Amino acid sequence: MNEQIASIQSSALELIAAANDARALDDARVAVLGKKGTLTLAGALIKDIPNEEKATFGQSLNAARTEINAALQQKENILQAIADANALSGIDLTLPPRSLPTGGLHPLTLIRDEAIQILRRMGFALADGPEIEDEYHCFDALNTPADHPARNEKDTFYFNSGKLLRTHTSSVQIRTMETSTPPIRIIAPGSAYRRDEIDATHLSVFNQLEGLFVDTDVTLPDLKGTLEYFFHEMFGTSTEVRFRPHFFPFTEPSFEIDVKLQIKGQAPRWIEVAGCGMVDPAVFKSINATRKDNALDPKKITGFAFGMGLDRLAMIRWGIKDIRLLIENDTRFLSQFAQ
Ligand code: DAH
Repeated sequence: MNEQIASIQSSALELIAAANDARALDDARVAVLGKKGTLTLAGALIKDIPNEEKATFGQSLNAARTEINAALQQKENILQAIADANALSGIDLTLPPRSLPTGGLHPLTLIRDEAIQILRRMGFALADGPEIEDEYHCFDALNTPADHPARNEKDTFYFNSGKLLRTHTSSVQIRTMETSTPPIRIIAPGSAYRRDEIDATHLSVFNQLEGLFVDTDVTLPDLKGTLEYFFHEMFGTSTEVRFRPHFFPFTEPSFEIDVKLQIKGQAPRWIEVAGCGMVDPAVFKSINATRKDNALDPKKITGFAFGMGLDRLAMIRWGIKDIRLLIENDTRFLSQFAQ
């Protein structure tokens, strides 16, 4: 009986030695140890042999199984090592990795960050306000009468609740002055919404950057100096900046700011980039009424405000002819700005 086991074991070891890949090794395992494997079938004979031989038979069976399992394991390790070496052959692990394509910042993000950097250097802090506004903060507190065209349903997105999508970031001026006392020096970049026809220079969602400086002796020259400096930082010191008298309900006097665009091969032209002015005392008064104090006493306090179009700045900076490119997410356009 024991010879039979010895011969099963030696042919099993031969099979294992001859197996050249994982599949052949598996076949060998099944042929010997599987349900109908040679060793399994031999083991089943234990019930037929005389009792006094059962112990020795069992021992040699177990010894054979241990031996065969060890050989299987050893062969498996060898085959795995060969497979690993093959997988890596021809690959030079010392080469530097190929770089992965990375995204870049959107031109609007780039221009906004740059604008913020310039203004923060001048001491302006970031402020924020909701894009879903009420009429009070968007219009009334900004001295804009109920019959002003901007409040028209044709121009503004209204919700049934009476709230609206802010038509400008100037509402952040009001929210800031309601909760802080002078000196106030803030900027508020953010989206604004208008029911404009969409074309090469208009979107119904666009981006503004609002600014407000309120203190005891803020003057018109401060406004001009600040904004001239800003546009020189933005577009270069030789850029001409012009303040054109205009009307806004919440500033007096008010101006629109144009910068002179000089593109090679084209006649220079003025491009409107911002509105600005000295805060109208009526604005301070309505905020004092809400605050129920006189923290913004128009007799002692003055201020300037401005609101610029960030999309415009991006268009000027990079000569972008159609504003829609800024929202279409065409990678052929956007990848030009990746840094
Ligand atoms: N809110 C104005 C607009 O969207 C721009 C503006 C003009 C903002 C004058 C100001 C300002 O702060 O003082 O057209």
